[in-house]
Amino acid sequence: MGQPLRIGVVGLGAISGAYLSTFERLDAVRPVAVADLDEARAKAVAKERGLRALTVDELVADPEVELVLNLTVPAAHAEIALKAIAAGKHVYGEKPLAATLDEARAVVEAGRLAGVRVGCAPDTVLGTGVQTARKAVDDGLIGAPVAATATMVTPGHERWHPDPDFYYRPGGGPLLDMGPYYVTALVTLLGPVASVVGAASRTRTTRTIGSGPRAGEVIPVEIDTHVTGVLRHESGALSTLVMSFDSVATRASNIEVHGQAGSLVVPDPNRFDGEVRIHPLDGEWEALPPSAGYRDAARGYGIADLAAAGARVPARANGELAYHVLDVMSSLLDAAEGGAAVEVASTCERPAAVPLSDLT
Ligand SMILES: NC(=O)c1ccc[n+]([C@@H]2O[C@H](COP(=O)([O-])OP(=O)(O)OC[C@H]3O[C@@H](n4cnc5c(N)ncnc54)[C@H](O)[C@@H]3O)[C@@H](O)[C@H]2O)c1
Repeated sequence: MGQPLRIGVVGLGAISGAYLSTFERLDAVRPVAVADLDEARAKAVAKERGLRALTVDELVADPEVELVLNLTVPAAHAEIALKAIAAGKHVYGEKPLAATLDEARAVVEAGRLAGVRVGCAPDTVLGTGVQTARKAVDDGLIGAPVAATATMVTPGHERWHPDPDFYYRPGGGPLLDMGPYYVTALVTLLGPVASVVGAASRTRTTRTIGSGPRAGEVIPVEIDTHVTGVLRHESGALSTLVMSFDSVATRASNIEVHGQAGSLVVPDPNRFDGEVRIHPLDGEWEALPPSAGYRDAARGYGIADLAAAGARVPARANGELAYHVLDVMSSLLDAAEGGAAVEVASTCERPAAVPLSDLT
């Protein structure tokens, strides 16, 4: 294998540790520097992990950095990505690709013009959970796919996240926050989406932080917190989506896919593994052993997949896919607001299936 892809990480909050831990066990990628608006935080992480602490401007200009991993809050995703692309770096960001579709388009377009890679979370769909389900669909185990359901309900991330403000601002909300896992999984399973209908509601104008130093602080809610919709895939299959920060619990599967010859239960698309179950037309529920996807995958595998793909093969967790997913979600919010079906202007290639394998 060639040299590891050298990574500069911008944004060192709650999710950053998961990425840095993954990189410690992969040869394909190597973090070299970190940056955060909070300089003390950058210095602390740099010291703990043996990396260099830089400012954001220094990091994107650093000759050692080949790819900028953007783990900032959604409102800063485009700004950091555009800065890194302008400096000639590949970029990979946390989801969503950007807080708005216009910003996301600017990122994908800038990456294309600069000839650099634009990658984006989620990479959970590269694990054995969603990939085993995809293989079952592709192998015809449920016959022609007809429909899917995707359900994510929680009372709200302010109960556990110490700085949950961004979840309740534009770019946040249950759909833009958790939808990327579900919509990316649905596109992986059933292909791109042609049109959507939707409805959404907002139960409260404020939320109260439940943990950390700011516990008890009241924050404003600027977005809809219960979003439902139907996605019409280009194939004709219909996916029904429920994404809520306003519900306590559910016994519905995270995702189910229904075909003429069987039904599939797909595990949590916010995780990399989990059991896939199938119910053939003339049978009972049974578990499918993992048959596809990266084993032991974790956050950061999308970047290792990009590094392993080399320059000519499209990376699986790529910007076009993330743009289409964001387009589907913003079209759904538009449909909910306007009360009519909305055509999704973009499309994307269904990313290549992942054979059952290990990344090193
Ligand atoms: N927290 C999770 O469990 C989780 C899981 C998966 C994905 N994500 C995604 O990861 C991203 C980050 O989430 P988080 O929970 O780690 O957020 P966080 O608020 O804990 O951390 C964000 C960090 O980015 C820094 N930052 C913000 N703007 C910046 C800028 N302009 N320049 C430099 N640094 C900046 C902040 O100082 C902070 O340290 C979000 O897009 C979120 O959707 C979070």
